[in-house]
Amino acid sequence: TTTDADALRTPIVAVLGHVDHGKTTLLDRIRGSAVQEGEAGAITQHIGATAVPLETVSEMAGALVDPDDFDLPGLLFIDTPGHHSFSTLRARGGALADIAVLVVDVNDGFQPQTEEAIDILRRTGTPFVVAANKVDTTPGWNPQEGEPIQRSLEAQSDRAESRLNENLYELIGDLSDEGFSADFYWRVQDFQGNIGIVPLSAMTGEGVPDLLTVLMGLSQRFLKSEMSIDVAGPGRGTVLEVKEERGFGATLDAVLYDGVIRTGDTIVVGGQYDPIVTEVRALLQPRPNAEMRTEKRFEKVPEVAAAAGVKIAAPDLDEAMAGAPVRVVRDQTEEEVVAEVREELAEIEVETAEDGVVVKADTLGSLEAMANALEEAEIPILRAEVGDIAPRDVAVAETANEETHRVILGFNVDVLANAEEELETSDVRLFADDVIYQLVEEYEEYVDDLQR
Ligand code: GTP
Ligand code: NA
Ligand code: MG
Repeated sequence: TTTDADALRTPIVAVLGHVDHGKTTLLDRIRGSAVQEGEAGAITQHIGATAVPLETVSEMAGALVDPDDFDLPGLLFIDTPGHHSFSTLRARGGALADIAVLVVDVNDGFQPQTEEAIDILRRTGTPFVVAANKVDTTPGWNPQEGEPIQRSLEAQSDRAESRLNENLYELIGDLSDEGFSADFYWRVQDFQGNIGIVPLSAMTGEGVPDLLTVLMGLSQRFLKSEMSIDVAGPGRGTVLEVKEERGFGATLDAVLYDGVIRTGDTIVVGGQYDPIVTEVRALLQPRPNAEMRTEKRFEKVPEVAAAAGVKIAAPDLDEAMAGAPVRVVRDQTEEEVVAEVREELAEIEVETAEDGVVVKADTLGSLEAMANALEEAEIPILRAEVGDIAPRDVAVAETANEETHRVILGFNVDVLANAEEELETSDVRLFADDVIYQLVEEYEEYVDDLQR
């Protein structure tokens, strides 16, 4: 960790995309190669996040990256397992991620969660590149382990290359339908106005050097001024998940995007009902090279500096919310920080109407995304909250005047057993899905049927 006030912060790179398009494999590739090369100490793996230092990036990218050209410390990758998690990637005033990689399976093309990822990237104004993954599955492909994509393309038959190109042009077309001008990354001059497409294979590693190069270039060119923030200041982060850990009770998996957090710090965390004020008991990180999701043993560290993933153990975290802010109290009074957290939570507060539907979602970010989608569809909201569907929600939905509003829309949430009973005996309809636009569509179809 560094607490040098002039140090540049590691850019946060979110890896997004449809289920099984290869996000985790891509990160494993980046992480794994570094491990293979015996660089266990050079790669820091955090909760939900993998910090890849500049030396590792430059070794993986080979001739494509000269470390002397960069003064960023590396890249912090955030894996997003499934759709729901990336909508927690919010930070004050926008996106937690500085840039994003949208992973698309070249054969599968755009899929529902690709579109949802694009919607969120557009709304938050997050610059992104497209990783056109699984090029090795192109019929007749001649794999070139770990090579830059140009080298790999030179080794392909005309037939294989043109088959790949067909798929890539389809991606360019899909992006254009979404309002983005896109091209093969090596033809992109202006990465601010154009989306670069990097053909690659997470499996064979070809094209991965190119992706790292583009990400470093993007970060350096467009984000450097934002990166040089007060890395020694009070820690500011976002909760990714609230998890029970044996011996610690409820803990937070968080990404710190600014400043430093230390054991013993007083922190303020966005809670279900009110900001939670508590004291950091322990800061935990998985052992080097351990897969964070399966890791059982964590190493206690005295402090963590942004940008980083960290597990925070502290009392009273049961009601903390995924997607909510975490703030260290330092330089400001506790009251001031609580007020700031309240204000930040209010930013996300959904506009409600006298009559409307009840919305439940798994995280603050997904609640926000749901509210946006419903607003666009001109569907009023009576109440919107984070959490599983409880009997109380059924009772609230029952109070709606219009039949079309006696509805609960549940995004990525469970129905509590006693709420199930309530649903059966009431005239409240439940719609549940884990793709936002499908949920909205299902509801709209229901309304159409009622009104027919
Ligand atoms: P979720 O986390 O479930 O959303 O999926 P993901 O996007 O992380 O995909 P994951 O990395 O789990 O990969 C899904 C499957 O695709 C696995 O079987 C991978 O081995 C395979 N896969 C990923 N990348 C490649 C690739 O470049 N080539 C080939 N042939 N298979 C790949
Ligand atoms: Na998967
Ligand atoms: Mg995955």
